[in-house]
Amino acid sequence: MKICILPGDGIGPEITAEAVRVLEALDLKFEMEEALLGGAAVDATADPYPEATRKLAREADAVLLGAVGGPKWDTLPREQRPERGLLGIRKDLGLFANLRPAVLYPELANASSLKPEVVAGLDILIVRELTGDIYFGQPRGIEVRDGERFGFNTMHYTESEIRRIGRVAFEAARKRNKRLCSVDKMNVLETTQLWRDVMIELAPEYPDVELSHMLVDNAAMQLVRAPKQFDVMVTGNMFGDILSDEASMLTGSIGMLPSASLDANNKGLYEPSHGSAPDIAGQGIANPLATILSVAMMLRYTFGQENAALRVENAVKKVLAQGLRTGDIFEPGTTKVGTKQMGDAVLAAL
Ligand code: IPM
Ligand code: MG
Repeated sequence: MKICILPGDGIGPEITAEAVRVLEALDLKFEMEEALLGGAAVDATADPYPEATRKLAREADAVLLGAVGGPKWDTLPREQRPERGLLGIRKDLGLFANLRPAVLYPELANASSLKPEVVAGLDILIVRELTGDIYFGQPRGIEVRDGERFGFNTMHYTESEIRRIGRVAFEAARKRNKRLCSVDKMNVLETTQLWRDVMIELAPEYPDVELSHMLVDNAAMQLVRAPKQFDVMVTGNMFGDILSDEASMLTGSIGMLPSASLDANNKGLYEPSHGSAPDIAGQGIANPLATILSVAMMLRYTFGQENAALRVENAVKKVLAQGLRTGDIFEPGTTKVGTKQMGDAVLAAL
């Protein structure tokens, strides 16, 4: 059981360190090795996804990532930006299925900007396609045409790409409340007409799952109007990027949300849903819980260790119940702690 650890940039190294301590405490004999990704890799090698990292990530059964990016690298040419490292590793490892849960912990109900009754008990899973769509479509670029600059990208999906992410979503819905909402823009975009057609063709294989469809603009509205109508949502790379940020903020605490990106054999890259938060990097105040919960997803999806996954999730619930909070989820009457103290508390609860 080999895990490649990619601390990345910003708060990445701090939060990853706490997640590694949790992995070590489980006594499951993981072999762990660290490598560089993102800005850290650019600084060391001029490549956001260097060869050594590629080799280690390919060999490993799972990858744990902190976060990548920061203002320091924003002005570099596109091929050298940290985000390229993230897109590169997703594509290289074939991680087409991105699972982004948005769960509201009862203790954190006040953190949401929505009324508590609108979000109480919220438990949504967004299944985002991660290796296709306009993110990777060719041709793309900025050129001069007819004497002015012209920017262009290409949105496309093959039916097999849609089918394989559709299956992941139907299977996920089957293990939950058996409702799947597929999100598209079929009233305007042909690519997503195909998306809807393929989802409809798959549905008879999953008669126990209720399939519905929603246009992406309406889905964005429904997520803030009545988010509890959703169980599992499935959508393409671009819409999934946007809707998953929106869904995460319903919980008010993006610092709590893990994510998994899986290939066809449950090899996975696990990372918190939040970014590298350069504004608080190095201060020891970042919330490590999303990364620790990403470890739980890793135990569940890649290693099939459901009991260990539940142990980690219960330890997190316990520290919340004890009233411990990092700054991002702090409210009067709770105890403010730093990154390492939060890690210590999770270890103690384990
Ligand atoms: C995400 C991020 C990435 C994406 C960026 C950093 C390339 O926003 O994981 O959602 O757009 O996929
Ligand atoms: Mg995003």
